Amino acid sequence: MRKDSPMKTLRAAIAALAFALAAPAVLAAGDEIPAPKQKWSFDGAFGTFDRGELQRGFQVYKEVCAACHAAKYVAFRTLRDIGFSEAEVKALAATYEVTDGPDDSGEMFKRPGRPSDKFPSPFPNEKAARAANGGAYPLDLSLIAKARAQGPDYLAALLSGYSQPPAGFQLGEGLHYNKYFPGQQIAMPQPLNPDQVTYADGTKATVEQMSRDVSAFLMWTAEPKLEERKRLGFKVMIFLLILTGLFIAAKKRVWADLK
Ligand code: HEC
Repeated sequence: MRKDSPMKTLRAAIAALAFALAAPAVLAAGDEIPAPKQKWSFDGAFGTFDRGELQRGFQVYKEVCAACHAAKYVAFRTLRDIGFSEAEVKALAATYEVTDGPDDSGEMFKRPGRPSDKFPSPFPNEKAARAANGGAYPLDLSLIAKARAQGPDYLAALLSGYSQPPAGFQLGEGLHYNKYFPGQQIAMPQPLNPDQVTYADGTKATVEQMSRDVSAFLMWTAEPKLEERKRLGFKVMIFLLILTGLFIAAKKRVWADLK
């Protein structure tokens, strides 16, 4: 009998572990529908951003999303990293009005944006943003791609995931059915419709295309140094491989006489 008990303990531990791993999946099943996994240029150990995709995504953010969402960690000048020239960045920044100050008399004042400014919020404060959106808050998008478990897959699915609610679904007032949003109803009205933007590179602006482009752009705003991180990671792996080889050679030498 006593012989069995360690086995029993082990079995119980495995069962508990399996339950702990499975439980969240079971609980979430009714609530969240996983976003389909997409292919991205920045996937994998050698992934890089596709500059054309990022520029299209920026256009979608600027022309559509920025009406409600700020990106307060993204400075205009960083757009140079995705292929805009200094003059383009300057001209773009100047089209925005930025609150600065206080000036010598203690007043805040408005001025045209500069490349060092960040994308301003379209609303003066959170209360104003909520009042304009039926009580819901259009959150800052700078880091959203990292703040959601499925990152760009989730964003792309959410933006193209609007549809009619299934029969019998009780939709709250002012809410829209979206199967990828937790709870399946979201206060954001469908932001993208076919041909909402006109892409300079001639790409057809389908809802899926725009959703993907802006999701890639938001991945870049959330992790602008992704390419550097991946390059560094690769160098570190090579370094560790060489180091391992050296250690093996050294160990062989040290133990060579001890047969
Ligand atoms: C008319 C205003 C409006 C526009 C335009 C808009 N949004 Fe939203 N968005 C909202 C509001 C309001 C919420 C909060 C929804 C809620 O909490 O139910 C939201 C929520 C979100 C969320 C959060 C989802 C989550 O998991 O919490 C994301 C991501 C998002 N919007 C992305 C975008 C993108 C990308 C665009 C441009 C293609 C865009 N939005 C355009 C109003 C807007």
